[in-house]
Amino acid sequence: MDTPKHIAIIMDGNGRWAKKRGMPRTYGHTMGAKTVEKICRAAGEQGVKYLTLYAFSTENWSRPDMEVKALMKLLGSYLDNCLETARENQMRVRVIGDITRLEPKFQEQIKAVEEASKDYDRLHLTIAINYGSRDEMVRGMRKLACDVRDGKLAPEEISEDRFAGYLDTAGIPDPDLLIRTSGEQRLSNYLLWQLAYSEFYFTEKPWPDFDEEELAKAIDAYSNRERRYGGV
Ligand code: IPE
Ligand code: IPE
Ligand code: MG
Repeated sequence: MDTPKHIAIIMDGNGRWAKKRGMPRTYGHTMGAKTVEKICRAAGEQGVKYLTLYAFSTENWSRPDMEVKALMKLLGSYLDNCLETARENQMRVRVIGDITRLEPKFQEQIKAVEEASKDYDRLHLTIAINYGSRDEMVRGMRKLACDVRDGKLAPEEISEDRFAGYLDTAGIPDPDLLIRTSGEQRLSNYLLWQLAYSEFYFTEKPWPDFDEEELAKAIDAYSNRERRYGGV
């Protein structure tokens, strides 16, 4: 099989990585952000077209206030530098998740990066911030219900494709491969609809230690699998 066109990643293990080194969890997040830069470059070089990264879940608000603040600050400075990286890598950047809960300044920043990078086409980077798959589906269904109420859509016109068009990922193909780092083997509310037929790859490596070589290993494992879609 070929290189996966779309890889989704649950970047996990920053906290444990830092703790093992006697450092605060936030240090792990800082190092994890460096891995993001590395993997975006490597993904483009290895022929991946879409990369979707889980940066902050709807459940992550329940972490200590200090950690949430540090994560938001880190995401903000990532987006600050993102324009430069986007230009260098010809990378289109999009954010999925309910961004209305984020600081207004942060929301502006997101819109600016999305707008400035919208014509780049080498790599499509999607960052999930305040993202939860159930929340995404509920928000989508709310919009869909309004369209039905307003007569824009008839109930019998609702199909899988139509529904997918109401999700944050509208227009982005489903992931071929899901990678989760750091040993956990669960989805943690990530892309439940979109991952229906993706291949899963779990590695013990914590996210700050994940690199080009690890990505190549995951791609290699994927290409040795026989993909099926329910047939014989
Ligand atoms: C992943 O690392 C980053 C985010 C969830 C934001 P964690 O912070 O979950 O690190 P562990 O899993 O506690 O080690
Ligand atoms: C999932 O990781 C969310 C992100 C990577 C952003 P978590 O570490 O938050 O997930 P759980 O709590 O272990 O399921
Ligand atoms: Mg974790």
